[in-house]
Amino acid sequence: MQSTLLARQRTAPEVRRTTPYLALDPTVVERRFHALAAALPGAEVHYAVKANPHPAVLEALVGCGSRFDVATPAEVRAALAAGADPGDLVCSHPVKRREDVAEAHALGVRLFVVDSPAETRKVAQAAPGSAVLCRLATTGAGSEWPLSGKFGVSPVQAVEILLEAARLGLEAAGVCFHVGSQQRDPEAWAAPVRDASRVLAALRHSGLSPWLLDLGGGFPARYSHDAPPLAAYGAAIERALQEGFGTGGRPRVLVEPGRGLVGDAGTLVTSVVGVVERGPREAPVRWVFLDAGVFTGLVETLGEAIRYRLRTDRSGPTGPCVLAGPTCDSADVLYEREPVELPLALAEGDLVRLEAAGAYTSSCSSVGFNGYAPLPTHLTRDTGA
Ligand SMILES: Cc1ncc(COP(=O)(O)O)c(C=O)c1O
Repeated sequence: MQSTLLARQRTAPEVRRTTPYLALDPTVVERRFHALAAALPGAEVHYAVKANPHPAVLEALVGCGSRFDVATPAEVRAALAAGADPGDLVCSHPVKRREDVAEAHALGVRLFVVDSPAETRKVAQAAPGSAVLCRLATTGAGSEWPLSGKFGVSPVQAVEILLEAARLGLEAAGVCFHVGSQQRDPEAWAAPVRDASRVLAALRHSGLSPWLLDLGGGFPARYSHDAPPLAAYGAAIERALQEGFGTGGRPRVLVEPGRGLVGDAGTLVTSVVGVVERGPREAPVRWVFLDAGVFTGLVETLGEAIRYRLRTDRSGPTGPCVLAGPTCDSADVLYEREPVELPLALAEGDLVRLEAAGAYTSSCSSVGFNGYAPLPTHLTRDTGA
C-alpha cells in the first residue's frame, strides 16, 4: 500500500485553473542539471528532449550549458530553436526513418546511433560521413521502466557493426547503452561499461580510433520508492570507468538524462471526477476517478511501473483506493494491484496532485482520446520540488 500521501496545507492562495495540467518549474531543471553535472564531473550532459520538450525547459538547459539527445527532426528543431548548437546533438534513436536521418543531417546533426547493419547503411547513405555509436543491449534490471529488448546488440555484434560503419565511410565513434529508466541501482552501469571497454579495445586493435562512450539515461526522479542520491550514481560510474579504462584510455563520456533532470520539476494537477464504491456492500472497494489518466500523460503508470507521490488538500482518516483515469478504456486504471492511500473525505471536485510528474507526461499525452484534451503545461515556481 502506498504510504507516501502528503496532505499539505498550502500557505499561499492558489489560482484554480482548469484541470488536468502540468505545473512545470524550469528552475528545478536547472538545479538538477547542476547536481548531475557535479555528480558526474567529466561527463557531457545531453538532455533527452523526449522527456519534456517544453521550450522553457530547453531554454533553461541551454543557459546551463547542456547539450541534447534527440530522436526526430522535430526534436532537433526544438533544441535548435532553444539555442542549441547542432554539433552538440546526438540522435540516439537506433532505428529511424530514412527521411528523418537525412533531415537531421541537413539540420547539422553529425552523431547518430545504430544497432544493426541495415541502419548503418541507412545512416551512411542519408547522413554520409557522420559519426556513429552502436547501442549495446542491457538487461534493464533494477529499473522501474526497463528499455531492454527493443534495442541493442552484443559486444561482438557491436564490433562488427562499427567495423562495417568505418568501411562505409562513417566515423566509428564508440558505443552507447541505456540501463533502463528510473534505474534505482547505481551499480547497473558496471556491466555495460565493461562491455563497452571490450568493444573499444577490439576496435583499436583493428586500427580504428573510437573516442566516445554514451552512458545513456536512467537517473531517477523522486517517486514513491526511494532511489539513492546522485552522488552514489557518480561514484559507481566512476568506479566502473576506472575498472574498464584505467586512467589513460578513457574515452569522452556523455550521459543522456531525461527523467533525472525534468521529473522533479513538474506536478500534474488533477481533479476528482467521482468516488465510487464497487463490490460487495460489506467489503466495498473505493474507486477514485481523476480527470487525468493513462491517455492524459500518465502512461508510465501502465503495469503500475512508475508510482507518483500523491498530495491532496484533505486531512483526516485515509483508506485504500483504486485510482483510475477518466476515459472509457479499462486500461485507464493507474493503481489497482497496489492501491493508494487517500483521505476518506476526498470528493468530486477535489484536487489531487501527482508529484515529480515532469517527465514523460505532457510529452506522452494523447492528442485527445475519448474527447479529453492533451495535457497542457503552465509554468510555475510552485511544484513543491
Ligand atoms: C536513447 C535514450 N536516451 C536517453 C533516454 C532518457 O532516459 P531517462 O529518462 O531514463 O534519463 C531515453 C529514454 O527513453 C532513451 O531512449
